[in-house]
Amino acid sequence: MSKTIAVTGAGGYIGSVLVGRLLDAGYRVRALDRFYFGASTLGRYAGHPGLELKTIDIRDIGPRDFEGCWGAADLSGLSNDPAAEVDLRLTWEINEKGRIDLAHSARSAGVERYVFSGSCSVYGAGGDGALGEDCDLNPLTAYARAAATAEEAIRAMNRPGFTTVALRNATVFGLSPRMRFDLVVNVMTLSAFERGQIVVTGGGRQRRPVVHVQDVARAFIRALEAGAGTVGSEVFNIGLANFQMIDLSKEVSRAMPTPVKVQFAPGDADKRDYAVRFDKAKQVLGFSACDGVSVGVVEIHRALNAGQVERGLVTKTVAWYRHLIKMQRVLDYGLVARTGAAPAVADSFAVAARQAELEGTGRTGAGAARKSSVGGALLSLASMIGMLFGIETECSEDSFGLTDRASNLARAFETVMAVAA
Ligand SMILES: NC(=O)c1ccc[n+]([C@@H]2O[C@H](COP(=O)([O-])OP(=O)(O)OC[C@H]3O[C@@H](n4cnc5c(N)ncnc54)[C@H](O)[C@@H]3O)[C@@H](O)[C@H]2O)c1
Repeated sequence: MSKTIAVTGAGGYIGSVLVGRLLDAGYRVRALDRFYFGASTLGRYAGHPGLELKTIDIRDIGPRDFEGCWGAADLSGLSNDPAAEVDLRLTWEINEKGRIDLAHSARSAGVERYVFSGSCSVYGAGGDGALGEDCDLNPLTAYARAAATAEEAIRAMNRPGFTTVALRNATVFGLSPRMRFDLVVNVMTLSAFERGQIVVTGGGRQRRPVVHVQDVARAFIRALEAGAGTVGSEVFNIGLANFQMIDLSKEVSRAMPTPVKVQFAPGDADKRDYAVRFDKAKQVLGFSACDGVSVGVVEIHRALNAGQVERGLVTKTVAWYRHLIKMQRVLDYGLVARTGAAPAVADSFAVAARQAELEGTGRTGAGAARKSSVGGALLSLASMIGMLFGIETECSEDSFGLTDRASNLARAFETVMAVAA
């Protein structure tokens, strides 16, 4: 019988590609995700006998969710710097504690191979040369710090019978069922398609490694299949090549079928500037990336031209998360009309219930919420106020287009109702 691989973050940009490749390779897949971007990203495999789907928050995953799985690939979390800045407590809960707890649960359930999706962002701003896996890390943001801490903790869990591997992915590009137009090559391609221009910020000399999403999925499968003695507790940079932004913009414009202007704009909030080496993955893992930037640009351009790719708010990760938070607020106000409860109270219950869970006093629900401490309620109130003032107005009307996104919101609404009941 074929092995089962649990994939957390399975509905995401990389996850949805990896799930497809695993199924095609004959694995069974347990897809675990909160599906913030909808489960339609796995739609083409709906009904596949090898695919099991479970909508779950990684913070609620326990050993039972990994039962029967031989391997696991963790691709969950708030997946870029700005998304991780929206609520630092949430970033810690999900990207750091949540991802470390996941590995513990997998080990308790008897999972033998565990592959962690890390990031080259942990290098931050490097020196002149290209950085190898043993170089000092310089994580510049909450996202990068959480990635570095979780990676280190999970590497340390490696032991006979539980092999852990960490992949530090370069910035990914290319077409995926969950499209991301917040990744540099993809953004440049969209801008070139829509406006015939690419804007390079921050001078254009910043270096960044990149890699095609299909290559990343191949690297995960290599890490799942390689000998335990070879890869146990190892970390690998996964990338194609390093580019300065200016050269990347030229690569993109060359691959476009129509003329594209490259323009410069001052300033860039993103201070990352580093180049990395990829030779260890080649020598030890037997992995080399093969799809060039032009492959990604051409496939994205074709899909855009054919109207086959979503390009609305849901493809801009941080804007989408902010939109979900805002919609949660709207749903909470709906609750006022139905129950007469003040929104602050309902909100306190919801957040305090999560806090009670974190403190190990119970699971989400009315009981846990009502038993939570006054301190918890105050913290919740503070968190709510932060949320209120953090809300931005980037939403567009097209965001409610897809049924599974609406059902995600409906589920959120049900949760709030259950908590207040
Ligand atoms: N895409 C890149 O360029 C890149 C580069 C380096 C590392 N990574 C890392 O690889 C992983 C996957 O990235 P991606 O580009 O596919 O991101 P993504 O945002 O498309 O996917 C993340 C998935 O995790 C899910 N998720 C988020 N919080 C969750 C929670 N609390 N419980 C359950 N599911 C949750 C989301 O619903 C989503 O499906 C992330 O850990 C990311 O940090 C990505």
